[in-house]
Amino acid sequence: MTSSRSRRLAVLASGHGSNLRALADADRAGTLGGSIVLVMSDRPDCGAGAIARARGLPVETPGTGPFRTKLDADTELHWIERLRAHGVDTVLLAGFMRVLHAPFLDAFPDRVLNIHPSLLPAFPGVDAIGQAWRHGAGITGCTVHVVTRGIDEGPILMQSAVPVLDDDSIATLTERVHAAEHVLYPRAVQHFLTRPFAVEGRRVRWLAPESA
Ligand code: GRF
Repeated sequence: MTSSRSRRLAVLASGHGSNLRALADADRAGTLGGSIVLVMSDRPDCGAGAIARARGLPVETPGTGPFRTKLDADTELHWIERLRAHGVDTVLLAGFMRVLHAPFLDAFPDRVLNIHPSLLPAFPGVDAIGQAWRHGAGITGCTVHVVTRGIDEGPILMQSAVPVLDDDSIATLTERVHAAEHVLYPRAVQHFLTRPFAVEGRRVRWLAPESA
């Protein structure tokens, strides 16, 4: 499998936006494999929105409906419409704090990616770095995966390991995991968009370019 589409990317973010910044930097440097054409957020005042605006990227913050951790069905359809209006074919979640449902995932089949701050399948869900630190893990890291219906469960595209040091606090570990994310996410997106791969069961196997 490889991308034959136009590679118009949207980033969905709710937080500080450091991954958005890394993706936008790679886009600007021509190493992302596609172009970010839209940033969408459920939080009009979040850092990600400010970063996007500062870079001249279109930002939309449509309503979110009545729930805190998901979009209701009508709202989700509206988000899909906005993405389609911008010709988006691939959606990158970068700290987007709402669960997306089947209609959204079906609108962009196998084209919604996420970054998670642990070596999945260890420590899925919220506070993954804190979970790893409290658990006493010796190694943690970050994972870029395809989003499927189960939370943090989709096929793994790429991972990066980060050792947990004896004198790490959650804060120092968080800093290093985030630094690893900022290298991993743009690289994984570029691979996903430009290199052929096969999905065998859950396993993603990168193929040599000539097998495309
Ligand atoms: C990152 O740790 C990412 O893995 C997780 O949410 C955090 C977002 O950080 N999904 P930022 O908003 O990109 O700085």
